[in-house]
Amino acid sequence: MNQFGGNWTQAKMEIVVDYAKAYLVIMNKQNWVKTLYFDGFAGSGLIGDAEKEESIRGTALRILDINEPKPFDIYYFVEKDEKNKNALEKRINAQYFGKNAHVVRADCNKKLADMADFLKKNKKYRALAFIDPYGMTVNWDSIEKLKGLGIDFWILVPTGVGVNRLLIRNIENIPKGWLGKLEKFLGLSKEEILAHFYSSKTVNTLFGDETLTNKEESAINKIGELYRQRLKTVFNFVSESFVMRNSTNSIMYHFMMATNNETALKLANDVIKPKYRL
Ligand SMILES: C[S@@+](CC[C@H](N)C(=O)[O-])C[C@H]1O[C@@H](n2cnc3c(N)ncnc32)[C@H](O)[C@@H]1O
Repeated sequence: MNQFGGNWTQAKMEIVVDYAKAYLVIMNKQNWVKTLYFDGFAGSGLIGDAEKEESIRGTALRILDINEPKPFDIYYFVEKDEKNKNALEKRINAQYFGKNAHVVRADCNKKLADMADFLKKNKKYRALAFIDPYGMTVNWDSIEKLKGLGIDFWILVPTGVGVNRLLIRNIENIPKGWLGKLEKFLGLSKEEILAHFYSSKTVNTLFGDETLTNKEESAINKIGELYRQRLKTVFNFVSESFVMRNSTNSIMYHFMMATNNETALKLANDVIKPKYRL
C-alpha cells in the first residue's frame, strides 16, 4: 500500500480527477477521438494513512469510477513494484470488470517511450497522463519523446524533496553522481545547471582576490520555474503549479500540466486555481 502524504495528497488526486472529468466532457463532443488514460506510477489502488490507521482510495480507482459522460477507452497503469501491481490488478478485476484496463509491471520511463510510439501509430487517440513519482525517477529523455503528441501531461516535480537536496550550499562538495542525476533529470549539462543556481563574486581580501560562490536564495521556486521552461521546449503550453508544502511549510513538490492544446491549458489552470493555491 502507498503512504499518505497529508492534505496535499488529497488535493493532488482531486485536481487529476476533476481534470479528467472535464477532459472527458470535451472529448465526448469529438466522437472520432479515442481516449487513453496513462498512469506512470499507479500504486496499489489504496493509499495508507499511517496516522489514522486507515486507507483511502488512490487516484487509479477514482479515475476508473468516472463513467459520465463516458469512461476512457483504454486505461494503462504502470507500476514497478510487483506487490503493488498485483494488488491494483486484483482490485480492478474485482470492481471494474468490463473496463479496458491494463496493469503492467514496468519502469515508467520505458512505458512513456512505448506510449509515444502508440500515439504516433494510432492517430485517433488522445492521452491524459498522470506521472506521480516520489522522487527524481522520470528522465528528461523520456519526456522529450512526447514532443508533438496529443497528450495532456500532469507531472509531480520533486523540486524540494529531490532537486534542491542535491544542490547543496557548497558547490565544491556536490558529488559527481548527484550532478549526473541532475543532468539526467533536467536534460541540461552540469555547467548549465550550476550556472542557473549558483552565482560567484570576487571579493578583495587581505591576501588577494577570493571568489565566493553562493547558492541562489529561493532555489526551490527557481527549480519549479526551470522545470516549467524545460517542459515548454517539448509542449506548447504549461500550466501554473500547485505547490505542495509539508507541515513546516517547506516546499516539497510542484505539480503542473503540459499540453499542446490551449483549451486544455485553461482547464488545468481552472482546476488548480481557487481551491488548491496554498
Ligand atoms: C506516489 S506512489 C503512487 C500513488 C498513486 N499515484 C495514487 O495516487 O494512488 C508511487 C508508486 O510508484 C511506484 N514506482 C516507483 N518507481 C517506479 C518506476 N520507475 N516506474 C513505475 N512505478 C514506480 C512505487 O512502487 C509506488 O507504488
